[in-house]
Amino acid sequence: MTIHTVATNPFAGQRPGTSGLRKKVTEFQQLGYLENFVEAIFETLGDTRGITLVLGGDGRFFNRSAIQTILRMAAAHGVGKVLVGRGGIMSTPAVSCVIRKHGAFGGIVLSASHNPGGPHGDFGIKYNVENGGPAPEKITEAIYTNTQTLTRYLISDAPPVDLERLGTTRMEQMEIEVIDPVADYAELMARLFDFDAIRALFAGGFTMCFDGMHAVCGPYAKAIIEGMLGAPAGTVINAVPLEDFGGHHPDPNPVNAAELIALMYSAGAPDFGAASDGDGDRNMIVGRGIAVTPSDSLAIIAANATVAPGYRDGIKGIARSMPTSTAADRVATALGVNCFETPTGWKYFGNLMDAGLVTLCGEESYGTGSDHIREKDGLWAVLFWLNILAAKGKTVEQIVREHWTRFGRNYYSRHDYEAVDAGDAQAMMAALRARLQELARCTLAGHRVALADDFIYHDPVDKSVVSHQGIRIVMTDGSRIVYRLSGTGTEGATVRLYLERYEADPARHDFDTQEALSSLAAIADAVAELRLRIGRERPSVIT
Ligand code: G6P
Ligand code: ZN
Repeated sequence: MTIHTVATNPFAGQRPGTSGLRKKVTEFQQLGYLENFVEAIFETLGDTRGITLVLGGDGRFFNRSAIQTILRMAAAHGVGKVLVGRGGIMSTPAVSCVIRKHGAFGGIVLSASHNPGGPHGDFGIKYNVENGGPAPEKITEAIYTNTQTLTRYLISDAPPVDLERLGTTRMEQMEIEVIDPVADYAELMARLFDFDAIRALFAGGFTMCFDGMHAVCGPYAKAIIEGMLGAPAGTVINAVPLEDFGGHHPDPNPVNAAELIALMYSAGAPDFGAASDGDGDRNMIVGRGIAVTPSDSLAIIAANATVAPGYRDGIKGIARSMPTSTAADRVATALGVNCFETPTGWKYFGNLMDAGLVTLCGEESYGTGSDHIREKDGLWAVLFWLNILAAKGKTVEQIVREHWTRFGRNYYSRHDYEAVDAGDAQAMMAALRARLQELARCTLAGHRVALADDFIYHDPVDKSVVSHQGIRIVMTDGSRIVYRLSGTGTEGATVRLYLERYEADPARHDFDTQEALSSLAAIADAVAELRLRIGRERPSVIT
């Protein structure tokens, strides 16, 4: 085995986005493209001799060869040990869990989350730091800077490692341990939740359908839900991770998981339905005839958290992203804990969790999690719901309705206008921004505006400030309209319009969501001249 120094030239555009570097597989397949980015990571880390890293991906096309390349580069950089998931597979939350449990220096996650996979799909790579969470911006920016000045990378010519066999091997001086990707994660879940109660629930005939969407979560769900919790075989569907996710879009929302939604609204619906995304960090919760919004899910988990052993002593606080509904705020008030409002992006929760200010975090984009790790966690949310269902002995619908009766219902919906002209979208936001002062004093179709601003976040821990995080118009009756441009889109711009209306009266909790929000949608359109400015008649996706 020899370590080679390979001359290379920088590639343009290797700046990590919201969640690492995400590009088409074909771009990653260019000679040196992956190597350059990985070299930039190692250069950013500084002295990597003797450190321990965790490595795994969501199993999409290109995962296997990327794992081998990264191992050979890690060996060339003197890394002491790499913990790699069997088959090169590990969910994003599991990587976070393994980094923390083994006290690793950091980890590399290979995933493009819910973006389509396969030879013509997307691939992605991101670096996580020692708290198990995504690297903060100063690190991702340093990685990017390094990608621009690279002249060479280091790589060993060692033969490929057998990723199927558990156990330890060596490459150069480096130890490689192929680990069961599920074991550490499952052990953590068993500590957080009342597995006995959930086992009893299934033993009593409770039925469930978990859609693994042919993504990374399938093996985790099979091992935990069917294996440890005793749910009947077949409870987890689409459980085998495929390199192209079976051609589906592994993003759990009512639009992409249409089959599961159809099942849950049919006569033969099981008691509970759930799904996760490509890399296992998102979740969708569905009851018989009722899809739970991610915002409500966060609030309901918070309100019932103490049923789970890991949260028996209560929660320290809650954080939600700004566009996420304010349902959780009401629970926080009732519990007497703080509720933090952060910009969109899981990375903003890390400081709050590290400082012990919050226990639970959630986003409207089907992300929920807690301080057990530093990523959002799809299966964790599903297990939390199972624990709540087992403890309460009620249906999903009863739990949701009782929550609304106690706290009021926050009707909530997101309207996406995808792949619109970026210039038009920017112009629309700029025009809104220019009117904020005037809007703050308005009454809009009977709603008095309490606040109109362009959201600025002051991180209470590191005191950093981020601005331009979305325009919000908050009414005195608690209704909200939020406009934002997506930070994860790959084509043109995606305008996201978030609508929320608060309704305290239980007699008014049965409206269709879109009907309940139609007057707010009309106000939002008129105020921003939305459809006119971006040249669209209607949203491309409504969730
Ligand atoms: C990713 C991030 C989330 C974010 C979501 C939507 O999943 O991890 O934190 O909420 O993308 O982001 P966007 O900027 O497209 O609204
Ligand atoms: Zn994801």
